[in-house]
Amino acid sequence: MSTSPVFKLEDELVDALPAFDLDPSVPRSRRVYLEVFGCQMNKLDAELMVGALLEHGYRVTDQIDDAGAALYVTCSVRQHAEDRVLSKIGGLKRRKRREPDFVVGVLGCMAQRDAETLRRRHPYIGLICGTGEFLKLPQLLEEARRSRTPVVATDLEADVKFERRRNLGPNRAQAFVSVMRGCDQACTFCIVPATRGKEISRPVREIDDEVRALVDDGVKEVTLLGQTVNSYGKRLAPGRSIGLHHLLHQLNKISGLKRIRFITSHPRFMTPDLIDAMADLEKVCEYLHLPIQSGSDVVLRRMLRTYTIDRYRSTIEHCRRRIRGFALATDFIVGFPGESDEDFEASCGILEEMRFQGSFVFKYSPRPGTRAHDLVDDVPEPVKQERNQRLLRLQEAMSLELYRRRIGSIEEVLVEGPSKNDPTRLTGRNRAHQIVVFPAGAGRESLAGELVAVRIVDATALTLYGELVSGAGAPPAAPRAGALVASESIRLFDPVGG
Ligand code: SAH
Ligand code: F3S
Repeated sequence: MSTSPVFKLEDELVDALPAFDLDPSVPRSRRVYLEVFGCQMNKLDAELMVGALLEHGYRVTDQIDDAGAALYVTCSVRQHAEDRVLSKIGGLKRRKRREPDFVVGVLGCMAQRDAETLRRRHPYIGLICGTGEFLKLPQLLEEARRSRTPVVATDLEADVKFERRRNLGPNRAQAFVSVMRGCDQACTFCIVPATRGKEISRPVREIDDEVRALVDDGVKEVTLLGQTVNSYGKRLAPGRSIGLHHLLHQLNKISGLKRIRFITSHPRFMTPDLIDAMADLEKVCEYLHLPIQSGSDVVLRRMLRTYTIDRYRSTIEHCRRRIRGFALATDFIVGFPGESDEDFEASCGILEEMRFQGSFVFKYSPRPGTRAHDLVDDVPEPVKQERNQRLLRLQEAMSLELYRRRIGSIEEVLVEGPSKNDPTRLTGRNRAHQIVVFPAGAGRESLAGELVAVRIVDATALTLYGELVSGAGAPPAAPRAGALVASESIRLFDPVGG
């Protein structure tokens, strides 16, 4: 297996999946080129698609000219992400005219949201497949090659089995696991409920089996994915309430598994039981991504976020009291309709008060079909831009301060591999999800996938730098003893587009 990237991710925080060796005897019609935009959920969906394609004799290539199909896993959360996909597929129109068998496929959220418009405006798209039917991709692709009209598959209720036995992700020791799909919230700015449908949780047993299989395959860290992952369990067992904490307790028992993370949480569902599980279960990392969106109650109400700043504050106070080394990251939207200077100042204030380790800051982007789309988008673009920059600058200063506090501490790091910027160094993440870089040294390449202890000697607002303390497998010194620190985070959603 080669390691050149197959996936070009717009979100630089997400790594590429490995490419698969291409046997020259594989015909062009069986070679697929795939690009993924947007969130971590898309990345995992893409991984599942690749699994299905491989099983059906397809191969994935990073050379679009070599492929019989070019597929785009798309994101609708902001206009910018949609524009980028449209411009890419626009570039394939001529090739499709020359090569009628070539399939251009739009998959995921854009396909789900807007199949009809895509079909009308871009007739060269041969396959439009939404978020519910992507595991049928091998069959759909076959159909699309034969069909003269676009193949459209946008049934959201389709029964898809999401489990997989192998980790096809870029890091051998790290895997994402979808524990629920869809979203039952009604945040007025957000298109996700329309593109991903109602919330459906997978049974604990099924997830437990999948994680065990992944651990047998070498995985040490799992990240549980859901749009509101902490409302996991709804409608799972009639008459009994099951929550994310039950799942965490179950997974914590799996021997060989070292770390459990979960993204993204909603403030409404931060229960004391979940906070206890984060505090007490040794495998559950003390890192929480809890989007706040705004520091102003007036704006939060208009967003229908269902919590107040006071409530958010008391949740975080509870977490900090209970969870040692608690690390917090968030999302902000700036320029939501009606956001006044005062509202924006409240967002700046809450960033400093909450001491977020990392924030993703997005400029509001009106999405057709959402409730906020009916409000006047009245914050001018230059003001959105300026607010965006100002919050980012505040966050940078906060992150730098929090990262620097780690200097001198010893961190447990799960090693990913050589650093992209400097192959003489290795990179990985600590429990707080901060990137940690340290010198590779002779023979240390084999540390990829291992947990090691690193003493931190320097820090920027995005990265900790350190030195290896002990070899692979050595028990790290008090990994939970860090300060109330922070990291830039993995995200379900693309932070670039904002
Ligand atoms: N539950 C999801 C949130 C989906 S969208 C998750 O797991 O991350 C991710 C982030 O994008 C949101 O938290 C919000 O900050 C931002 N966002 C969503 N819709 C947006 C819009 N219309 N304009 C700008 N930012 C948006
Ligand atoms: Fe759901 Fe979007 Fe709100 S995913 S929680 S409606 S931000």
